[in-house]
Amino acid sequence: MCGIIGAIARNPVQNTLLHALKTMEYRGYDSAGICTVSQQQLHTQKAKGKLINLETLLEKEPLEGNLGIGHTRWATHGVPEVRNAHPHQTESIAVVHNGIIENHQRLREMLQASGATFASDTDSETIPWLWQQVLEGETNQEKAFLDTLNQLEGAFAIAGIRNNEQKLWFARRGSPLLLARSPDGVFVASDALAVGAVATEVYYLKEGQWGWSDLEHVHIFDAQGKKAEVMWEAMPEMVAATEKDPYKHYMLKEIHEQPRVFLDILHAYTDGSPHIHFPQATFIETAPLPSRIIMVACGTSYHTALTARYWLERYLKIPVEVDVASEFRYRDPVIAENTWMITLSQSGETADTLEALRLFKRQTPNNKSLVFCNVAHSSMVRESDGLIELYAGPEIGVASTKAYTAQLLTLALFSLKLAHQYNAMDDESVMQHIQALFAAADGAKALLEKPKTFDALTPLFSQAHGSLFLGRGPCYPLALEGALKLKEISYLHAEGYPAGEMKHGPIALIDENLPVIVIALRQYHLDKVISNLHEVQARGAKIILVTDMQKNEIPENINATIHIPEGDFFSAPLLAAIPLQYLAYNVACDKGTDVDQPRNLAKSVTVE
Ligand code: G6P
Repeated sequence: MCGIIGAIARNPVQNTLLHALKTMEYRGYDSAGICTVSQQQLHTQKAKGKLINLETLLEKEPLEGNLGIGHTRWATHGVPEVRNAHPHQTESIAVVHNGIIENHQRLREMLQASGATFASDTDSETIPWLWQQVLEGETNQEKAFLDTLNQLEGAFAIAGIRNNEQKLWFARRGSPLLLARSPDGVFVASDALAVGAVATEVYYLKEGQWGWSDLEHVHIFDAQGKKAEVMWEAMPEMVAATEKDPYKHYMLKEIHEQPRVFLDILHAYTDGSPHIHFPQATFIETAPLPSRIIMVACGTSYHTALTARYWLERYLKIPVEVDVASEFRYRDPVIAENTWMITLSQSGETADTLEALRLFKRQTPNNKSLVFCNVAHSSMVRESDGLIELYAGPEIGVASTKAYTAQLLTLALFSLKLAHQYNAMDDESVMQHIQALFAAADGAKALLEKPKTFDALTPLFSQAHGSLFLGRGPCYPLALEGALKLKEISYLHAEGYPAGEMKHGPIALIDENLPVIVIALRQYHLDKVISNLHEVQARGAKIILVTDMQKNEIPENINATIHIPEGDFFSAPLLAAIPLQYLAYNVACDKGTDVDQPRNLAKSVTVE
């Protein structure tokens, strides 16, 4: 959802800005732009479409200057066109923005009335014009910047520059932003990946903080204008993790990383005993059993919560409520005392999930909140009582794969821990389940060593007008996720459905060009799923079966079968996820879509 970068350095910044935008292209890729200051003037280049277009432009007409800002966009206000690409500017001020300015219409009218001439349809363009207007009546520059921020409603991360000074201005309210530095310069960015190659230290700005930097000093303030301290931390090693070679796509690389991620997680949280430790969520150790758990997330993360509900309710015997964040936060949820809120998020920045967490905390400040997250410094992590880190490493492909299974695995461990702690499972059973999770890491590796196995599925989609994914129990959310993966990257309509519910509607869709993917695992109502399979087969559907049944048990006339190793109640979905990811990947490649950056999507959705 838009990536922003700013740099003030001892050397020209164009290439640093461009490289940073490349690492953040997953956040948005419908247009991009860079603006630098040199000889007391702003110099800007912008291009529609992928970053490569901006790169080509800059090769022909490079930008000079040791101070600059850059942006890669995921459109909210205004179609993806050059005029709507950032930076937005007046003659003397340029700004890049991530977020939404909710009062932009009012501001625009007010600014136009006093002479501003807008060039774009965006909400963001109000910022430089407003800043300029405030500066005309205020000589104290810091006060002018704060006054500008105070007139903006909504969420934003901003970086800004002016033509007549060597200062980089920045502000964070509601959208992520960090500072970074090295002996060569100071940087602001939406994501540490963007500056991992050039900076040695990082500071994650707190909500409401803003400030400016020259080459020598960084000055930051809180929302009230009080001076604040920058607490620098060492920049984590991450550059190597973001190269995709030798894989053709990041998504493929990330699918193949899963067995290693599984082992990293298992080694991080288990120690050969039945005691599972979550060192960043210690409140769990002493807390009484909650009366209810509420799980809230978006997209793929929402699907992992749906799976975990089956695990938690079976053993804890407490209600587990699961909701998509954008619904939860607007439905006046009833939250009693002794309820835990679990948010799940790869990025930790998804606006709706973050706001759902804040609503929960406002309504019941005594209740505990826990986040399952892949980004240890994200907003959700900072605002939750506990963290279960996913240890998946940076995920660049927009369609989530390894973060999805990392969430499933950590949720399985969390369910086992609670079951053990509240005496619903004895030591021996916990150990057996942990062993099954280790076996799933081996099973995933074995599956991925034979990727050709999945090739047989692709031809079934060549004439397809859509597809249906069916499952029961924890395989139902898997079906939802399989369908989401396919539609995200192949643009083929796909629906996930509870196998038992399929006869109440979707069965009408079935014909020979609607492949049906049936996920049938021993752990979850196998006989009933097979009956559902026969129901669709009898109506002429082509069937793809993902199963851990023996070969001789498989029903006849199945068009393609993917055998996966047998898992237990907790580990089986980890294994079944892999063929579904591969299927989506192969169909997308066959259709020639942009696998890592599918149209209209963004990896991190920091606007509601
Ligand atoms: C976007 C991404 C999805 C992701 C969802 C939630 O829609 O394209 O892949 O599942 O956001 O993101 P989160 O970072 O909160 O898990």
